Amino acid sequence: MNNAFKLEPFGTNNLHYLNHSNYFINIQHGAIRSAKTTASIVRWLKFIKEHPYNEFLMSGNTQTSLYRNVLRPLMSLLDSLGIPYDHRKNEYIEIDGNICWLMGFSHEGIANRIPGMTLAGWYADEVNTYPKNLVELALDRLSVKGSQAFWTLNPDNPHHYIYSEYIENKEKKECRDVRVWQYTIDDNPSLSEEYKARLKRRYPPGTVGHKRKILGQAAVAEGIIYSKFVEANNVIKKSDPDYGNIKYNKYVLSTDYGPGSVSVIGLFGIITGLEGNEYHLLDEFYYDVNDTKNDGEQLTDKELVEKSIELLTYKGEVLKLDMWYTPHDASSFRAEIKKHKYRGKPIPLATYTPDVLNDIQEIHSLIALCRFKISEDCPKSIAQAQTYAWDPKAKLKGEERPLKTQNNDHCPDMWRAAILGTRSLVNNPFTESKETYESSKWK
Ligand SMILES: Nc1ncnc2c1ncn2[C@@H]1O[C@H](COP(=O)(O)OP(=O)(O)OP(=O)(O)O)[C@@H](O)[C@H]1O
Ligand SMILES: [Mg+2]
Repeated sequence: MNNAFKLEPFGTNNLHYLNHSNYFINIQHGAIRSAKTTASIVRWLKFIKEHPYNEFLMSGNTQTSLYRNVLRPLMSLLDSLGIPYDHRKNEYIEIDGNICWLMGFSHEGIANRIPGMTLAGWYADEVNTYPKNLVELALDRLSVKGSQAFWTLNPDNPHHYIYSEYIENKEKKECRDVRVWQYTIDDNPSLSEEYKARLKRRYPPGTVGHKRKILGQAAVAEGIIYSKFVEANNVIKKSDPDYGNIKYNKYVLSTDYGPGSVSVIGLFGIITGLEGNEYHLLDEFYYDVNDTKNDGEQLTDKELVEKSIELLTYKGEVLKLDMWYTPHDASSFRAEIKKHKYRGKPIPLATYTPDVLNDIQEIHSLIALCRFKISEDCPKSIAQAQTYAWDPKAKLKGEERPLKTQNNDHCPDMWRAAILGTRSLVNNPFTESKETYESSKWK
């Protein structure tokens, strides 16, 4: 059906991949056009041919991208090798008696189709575009002896889960569950020098494009809201000699409340000072209903209150709570908090009404001044500080608003109340009651 594919010799990186990709998860990560897919197809054909079991999974972001990126070159290679196959669009491709089920993995909707499968292998194109729980579900299906996964992806944001969970996961690498092959644009001998030179001119050193497309490395994308957030400056390391000496004047809890999706509570320590306060996020509790380990189970308001109160026992000390900030639309959660006492007293509560752009500006300048820092105990906040992004579609219309679709706005939303609420007494947006407002004043 396709023009026959003329396979040329692979570069050394791919030769190593072809000969050594015998790990449970074999990941090709790197520059565009660096011959990842071509080598992965050759490897996949060898794998399914040699494996005694005959059911496999091939996934892409969508069925269309899987067809365009993988199936078309795969079928033209099969044509050139004279290997018979039967392709049923969006269903399966059968190659020499081996059936590969085809699936688009971009959304959670397919989650109920994965659990019934028994698989000996999984080929995943653009694996970084899949929800984390689908990746875990698919890995769970690789139950047949000698099962393996073969993943390809282009570089993403360094705080994408795919790095922490797989690509840079030391434990998984040490026990041979994961092996990564990293590609640069120069790893594909079939590319013309002219093309590579043009690409390098378009993405000069120092740009995100250069890091990702030429060097094939993870890099923070353009359009990041808190672009001044730098781990070296804004993350509190427990190994820092000053760590034990920090004294906080106030402790507050802050909430982003989403009972059907993500709820996150943060414990802030605040150092008040004449030149402005310093805000340290010390601990966080992050609950995502859609995380596979939570099995779609929602937390009750009571459970969330109890988990939040646990944060207040910090480094063995039961802290004094100066204020608990909740979003304006979380009335059921507030009602639940009011039923509880902390250290024998009613919990001081304040309500937060966001003023998105202003809040972002304030927090950004605190980040730049290193007056907002996040403890290394808060991996979700550290990741979201570096991925929280402007919505590019809104930008085209001349509007400025954060992107809501990436599931990385929950921590930034949570920080705002604690920081903005305790920042200034002028135009204070916290309006629960006169009393709680008064009690939020700094002494
Ligand atoms: N061994 C080879 N023989 C012939 N052509 C090759 C070979 N390896 C790669 N190519 C060609 O180089 C181009 C890029 O290869 P490929 O699509 O495999 O790269 P990739 O790393 O998957 O790129 P992307 O990141 O853009 O998906 C394709 O046109 C492919 O046909
Ligand atoms: Mg590819």
